[in-house]
Amino acid sequence: MAFMELSIDTVAVTADLDGIAACTSSPIPGVTRILYSAADMEARAYMRARCAAAGLAVREDGIGNLFARWLGSAPDLPAVASGSHIDAIPNAGRYDGTVGVVGALEAIRALQRVGFTPRRSIEVVIFTAEEPTRFGIGCLGSRALCGAFTPEQLRAQRDGAGRALEDLRAEAGFAAPLEDVLLPTGFYHAFVELHIEQGPLLETEGVPIGVVRAIAAPASLRVSLRGIGGHAGTVLMPGRRDALLAAAEVALAVERVALGVGSPDTVATTGVLHIEPGTLNSIPSAATLEIDVRDIADEPRDAALRAICTAVAEICDRRLITYTIHQLNADPPATSDLGVVEVIVHACEHLGMHYQMMVSRAYHGSLFMARICPTAMIFIPCRGGVSHRPDEYAAPDDIAGGIAVLARSLAMLSLESVPQA
Ligand code: GLV
Ligand code: MN
Ligand code: MN
Repeated sequence: MAFMELSIDTVAVTADLDGIAACTSSPIPGVTRILYSAADMEARAYMRARCAAAGLAVREDGIGNLFARWLGSAPDLPAVASGSHIDAIPNAGRYDGTVGVVGALEAIRALQRVGFTPRRSIEVVIFTAEEPTRFGIGCLGSRALCGAFTPEQLRAQRDGAGRALEDLRAEAGFAAPLEDVLLPTGFYHAFVELHIEQGPLLETEGVPIGVVRAIAAPASLRVSLRGIGGHAGTVLMPGRRDALLAAAEVALAVERVALGVGSPDTVATTGVLHIEPGTLNSIPSAATLEIDVRDIADEPRDAALRAICTAVAEICDRRLITYTIHQLNADPPATSDLGVVEVIVHACEHLGMHYQMMVSRAYHGSLFMARICPTAMIFIPCRGGVSHRPDEYAAPDDIAGGIAVLARSLAMLSLESVPQA
């Protein structure tokens, strides 16, 4: 078949990654693209134009999930989809998410170049806000696509400045009804996401491809503490109700819980800490922490969540601090579809590329796509396993290898006539 002669245009891929990386609201080499910011909107426009240039039909839903479709010869059959995200946490790297978006587009272009005719349509998907930066919850777009977030939950979202998602999406030009974000059952035949590993295993073991068999279970808490503020010079130490000191104890408890829960896969991180009034000569009266807790299984993750809540209660009772705990999310882990995994494995074997099966400790849009269609992921190595940092790096050859596996997998899936089991 023609698509066996696939070649990946590394120059075009690098240019596309550069094009997206140039859309940033922080100085290079770091990139920052917060949902609906000018940088995010520029990157969306860049990708929209690149998809249109490849002859794909582009549509966007009411929160900005973007779909770019290469029409197959059987356009009424459920399509095969691939993609990831282009939003980036503050001062991030240039490969997280973007490799999967640019890679999906290049996979289509590579198939077009060899004259391949897809049977099922092949669609690039760019998920809105995979990162939790703006609304405090990860995978906003894919969560809504699969119905794990309802239109009411979307309407209730407020960002850190108190601005409603409803207003922000309207300002960004996304006016379609939220009721239409949910994808109908059976909409996709399969979904495959290409992503950098964001961990060290592939590089350490010298293996170019990871085939993801499961995605770890993420959860997060927002803990709000209220004490009593006052003058830093005139209020003597006994009897102070300093919210920051309680928060500091909570952060230490988070570490202690993760280390003590008895699962080597439990990780817990206090990634956000805001204090009020946040001035040198005033006792902190309020503190807000956001805590990320994960494991590859949900039982130890849930045990850690319970232990953190117990610790918050104990610390606050002792320090006379009032508190609220808001569980932002606690998602179950996802298991890859064996049929899609098999297609990826065959693609690796056909291309003579070594691969290893692995678990994703990071979350991805695939965590939610797995709820509505057969899903699996392809990982490629990244230098030192570094991610969520400006020095994140993936070598062009490794990216091209991942795209080749993706392209062949998408082609094979697009030719399948029966639904995945
Ligand atoms: C995704 O960015 C994650 O935090 O796993
Ligand atoms: Mn990320
Ligand atoms: Mn990502």
